[in-house]
Amino acid sequence: MAEALLDKKSLTEKLQSELEDLNFSERIEKLKEYGDYSIAFSTSFSLEDQAILHVVAESSAPVRVFALDTGRLFEQTHKVAQESREKYPNVAIETFYPDAQKTQELVAKQGINGFFESVENRKACCFVRKVEPLGRALEGVDIWITGLRAAHSENRSDMHVAELDGGRDIAKINPLIDVNIDDLRSYIDEYDIPYNSLHDIGYPSIGCAPCTRPIKPGEHPRAGRWWWEEDNKQECGLHLVDGKLVRASNI
Ligand code: ADX
Ligand code: SF4
Repeated sequence: MAEALLDKKSLTEKLQSELEDLNFSERIEKLKEYGDYSIAFSTSFSLEDQAILHVVAESSAPVRVFALDTGRLFEQTHKVAQESREKYPNVAIETFYPDAQKTQELVAKQGINGFFESVENRKACCFVRKVEPLGRALEGVDIWITGLRAAHSENRSDMHVAELDGGRDIAKINPLIDVNIDDLRSYIDEYDIPYNSLHDIGYPSIGCAPCTRPIKPGEHPRAGRWWWEEDNKQECGLHLVDGKLVRASNI
């Protein structure tokens, strides 16, 4: 008889205790034991996400993979998306797009690049192009895998491998949370994993094209995201609940 599914708080606690001491690929492999749950991985085709995609493709963990195409991505991101589909034909990468009507209304209201004009406009654009499609992609999902790393930002530095996203009622796992950039790069090289060529020309963090620029030596890795905003903590809302990053301490 199938075991009863855990509530998301208990599921998060179980994942945290079982995954904490494993390395990142073992964490994904371990999800084979969670086959009763719906598991999905969101990819932006970043270096982090490409490492996860490789493990998902090589393992038999039952993981659905999806990307959010905001309509404003870099050409280089589409290129690595295509290369990934070719390298990993066994993985069906779904794409979610912004709602056409809501996008039309957004652009009619604030203009095509209205996000430069105010934080409010920028958040409205991120909502229509990313957050709302993410909600659709995560419908019915119990366990959400992301490529967040602690080293990305101060915001993310005290996150755990498993976090309860209480707003969405999902157990979120960040298998790379404690992996450093050098180890990540070595992994990508070792397995000849396709990656976004922008990473080689000063873009450690890549989002939408108009909202991402290269960083200068010594700048913070996320300094190129929404660079014109002074105090936005460089987050777009995908990983925020009530304006805060979801953290295990909220459990
Ligand atoms: S963001 O919140 O600033 O945009 P970031 O670029 O650091 O996020 O990526 C962190 C994780 O969020 C990625 O590893 C991925 O799981 C998810 N993510 C970000 N952007 C997308 C996207 N366009 N499509 C799917 N997942 C995404
Ligand atoms: Fe819009 Fe920029 Fe947010 Fe992309 S990152 S959804 S273009 S505001």
